[in-house]
Amino acid sequence: VDVIASLTDAIIERHQRYGWSSPEGEWGAIQREDRADFKKALDSGNADELEAQLEDLLVGPLSYGLVSHGESRSQVPHMVMWRLAMWAKMTTDPNVECLRVPSVGNPVTFSVAAADGSALPIMIDTPRFDIYAQRMAKALWNRWGGAYFGGTVLEIGSGYGGVAKQLHVRCPGVRVVLCDLPETLYLAWYWLMQVFGENATVAWWDENPDADVVLVPAHELEQAGIEPHLVFSAHALSGMPKATIAHYMAWIAQSTALAFYHDDATVAAPGMWMNDRFPEVLSSAMQPDGFRLTWQEKTPWTGVTDRFSEFFYERVAA
Ligand SMILES: C[S@@+](CC[C@H](N)C(=O)[O-])C[C@H]1O[C@@H](n2cnc3c(N)ncnc32)[C@H](O)[C@@H]1O
Repeated sequence: VDVIASLTDAIIERHQRYGWSSPEGEWGAIQREDRADFKKALDSGNADELEAQLEDLLVGPLSYGLVSHGESRSQVPHMVMWRLAMWAKMTTDPNVECLRVPSVGNPVTFSVAAADGSALPIMIDTPRFDIYAQRMAKALWNRWGGAYFGGTVLEIGSGYGGVAKQLHVRCPGVRVVLCDLPETLYLAWYWLMQVFGENATVAWWDENPDADVVLVPAHELEQAGIEPHLVFSAHALSGMPKATIAHYMAWIAQSTALAFYHDDATVAAPGMWMNDRFPEVLSSAMQPDGFRLTWQEKTPWTGVTDRFSEFFYERVAA
């Protein structure tokens, strides 16, 4: 309880420093329309109200844009089952225990039976996050000779931190840097601090750049001096303004990254998600200079099939 109280106070402090983000496009609309109560609690410094909203982070208004079930909670059981079947085909480790979702943030889950017969809760996005993490573990292994090499993965648009959790399961020695809007990083801070507990440290770059998970606000990426081995992004770049994407591509090109792995829209999708208001930017706009495409595959997850693909780029040797 003390940990949460000091965390909500620290979130309010960070908000006083950063102010409220109003980006253009899709996330500007989400900030304005779905996070109005969050803004009110932050602006007024109301820690109790903030805590109440964070307790429902994965089911209430704060989950919008970050959790795939949206309004349709009744679809969760069959969507989890579908995605679990996809996961079972793709995973290199059939231990379903790796997908267990903690109760932090009150997630909507569907439970399967664990090995001991108890309930094992899984969220819609967990199998997808886990396959990303497995693919990164394999890439890190192939290139640097070990998933435990202590390298750095930078994730752009990391949501509440679901991929960071799976990365910690799949390659525990890897440091994960999350780059997102401050408001989303507050959610990841809250979620990951409790999910990891004593098992891993979560900190802002200006406090502890060597933490297991490091938080970097998007507007401080240049200052933060992060030296990633691999840059990752899923379902985030497509929703950003073209200029923001170009900015990230230029940052990746001049960074230490040797690989760039992302999952984004490949074809226009009128009528889906927020496309009629903010058409998704397609993956052709996401090619950093000095990198070449070495692998590409359509993402198989139901709901986004045929619209999204995963791409793996590697830096061309100078
Ligand atoms: C649809 S969510 C994707 C979450 C998660 N990666 C997934 O695959 O489910 C898009 C994410 O992009 C973030 N975002 C929006 N604008 C951003 C920006 N300019 N820089 C970094 N992240 C941004 C949002 O806060 C959100 O976390």
